[in-house]
Amino acid sequence: MMRIAIVYTSVTGNTKELAELVQQSFIARSIDVDFFPVNQFPLDSILEYDAIAIGTYTWGNGIIPKEMMDLFKQIEVVDTTHITTAVFGTGDSFFPYFCGAVDLFRDMLYVHTNLAVTMKVELRPQLEDIAKCSRFVDCLLEHVRQELDIVG
Ligand SMILES: Cc1cc2nc3c(=O)[nH]c(=O)nc-3n(C[C@H](O)[C@H](O)[C@H](O)COP(=O)(O)O)c2cc1C
Repeated sequence: MMRIAIVYTSVTGNTKELAELVQQSFIARSIDVDFFPVNQFPLDSILEYDAIAIGTYTWGNGIIPKEMMDLFKQIEVVDTTHITTAVFGTGDSFFPYFCGAVDLFRDMLYVHTNLAVTMKVELRPQLEDIAKCSRFVDCLLEHVRQELDIVG
């Protein structure tokens, strides 16, 4: 059984909605996922997961919200190279660094984990984003299965 977590942060609800769409895509494939707002995610059990999908909005001038930084640092310091990851986010293309926090997570996850896929959505998810979530989840699952094959 693979263990998968969705860990997200959201202030005005856009990223929470996107996280719920991602969760629905897993459920549609009969795959169980643990679903956490980041402040409820047990950081010390990170190694129990085969895959983690991280959801974040972007703050300031393209930066990561401060409540995500403990998770970010944990992935940097613990040996997470075998964990498959994916990062999604919502942002506002009015700002110069659209979904900058997704890019910053992506660059770190690429170095420290088995990064599968990223997804950016403009503000509140729309109907067409359901198909995007579906592809996002397929890509994550393909990568986690490959990783589990390698590890044996
Ligand atoms: C002060 C402030 C700064 C922001 N900076 C950015 C930014 O640099 N890049 C971006 O794409 N979106 C930026 N946003 C937009 C939010 O990321 C966007 O509204 C997001 O969907 C909010 O997610 P939430 O509803 O999950 O809280 C900013 C919003 C605020 C209020």
